[in-house]
Amino acid sequence: MQVLVLGSAAGGGFPQWNCHCPQCSACRQGSSRAQPRTQSSIAVSDNGEDWVLINASPDIRQQINANSQIASADGARGSGIRAVVVTDSQIDHTTGLLILREGLPLDLYCTEMVRADLSESFPLLKMMTHWHGGYRQQPISVAPDAEFTIPQVPGLRFEPVPLKSNAPPYSPHRNDYHVGDSIGLKITDKTSGKVLFYAPGLGELSGDVLAALAQADCAMVDGTLWQDDEMLRLGLGSSLGSQMGHLSVSGEQGMLALLSPFQRLRKILIHINNTNPILDPDSPEYAQVCAAGVEVAFDGMLIQL
Ligand code: MLT
Ligand code: MN
Ligand code: ZN
Repeated sequence: MQVLVLGSAAGGGFPQWNCHCPQCSACRQGSSRAQPRTQSSIAVSDNGEDWVLINASPDIRQQINANSQIASADGARGSGIRAVVVTDSQIDHTTGLLILREGLPLDLYCTEMVRADLSESFPLLKMMTHWHGGYRQQPISVAPDAEFTIPQVPGLRFEPVPLKSNAPPYSPHRNDYHVGDSIGLKITDKTSGKVLFYAPGLGELSGDVLAALAQADCAMVDGTLWQDDEMLRLGLGSSLGSQMGHLSVSGEQGMLALLSPFQRLRKILIHINNTNPILDPDSPEYAQVCAAGVEVAFDGMLIQL
């Protein structure tokens, strides 16, 4: 399996267009070594030609153009994207579905909770039917032990792991958790037997998440914020990470501490907010992440499993 990081930043990207926090400003001015990053998305493939897009960010056009293995096609029009999976209905994971209109129809895999959000509060799926029929909806069951395959990428098996992370601000159940609001994915390469666990939004490590981490060879998990109150401290927002469904990286109960028992696992932080100091390779926080044996995802990162 090949795993390609298309976008490693959280919603807003890095630098965020209207943000003048020290880190966004330094990135814009070129005075830090922190690399710009686009919004949250990965793609997976069993052969390097046929790809499943996992989350469709508003930066998808730029992301495809930056990665020739996904941009290539046999005909006059086309790309390597054979199907799309979205793990939640957040803006940063779904607005790319509008951008992909020229390539419709496409199969779209999502849970019933996500389908409802994308049909009612943000009726994207209805709108897109006007482009060659739009998205062919393929339900993801969140029943225990549910799994699915995607016919266009037959070498991979997908298993949803329901996550306790919040539905988007526009959702009728933003603060009223429903199973399927957000899922992680366990993706197994049927030939190599290797397992990726992908969870860009993780509010807590439930038993299911711990089991997925124990089985995985590589985990790409929520690296949104260094500290729960980071946005408040910088005067940039009124919400704690925990109120948005993101477990912070540092602290006794933070992601680094919770990942530490998994010694065999390749650990990668992804979905990183522009305020998170781990974006700067010269920061002490970045050094702390490296010392813990954890990597920080970057756009274009390619992993072979
Ligand atoms: C989140 O995961 O909470 C998002 O990045 C929010 C957003 O896209 O605005
Ligand atoms: Mn997000
Ligand atoms: Zn910023």
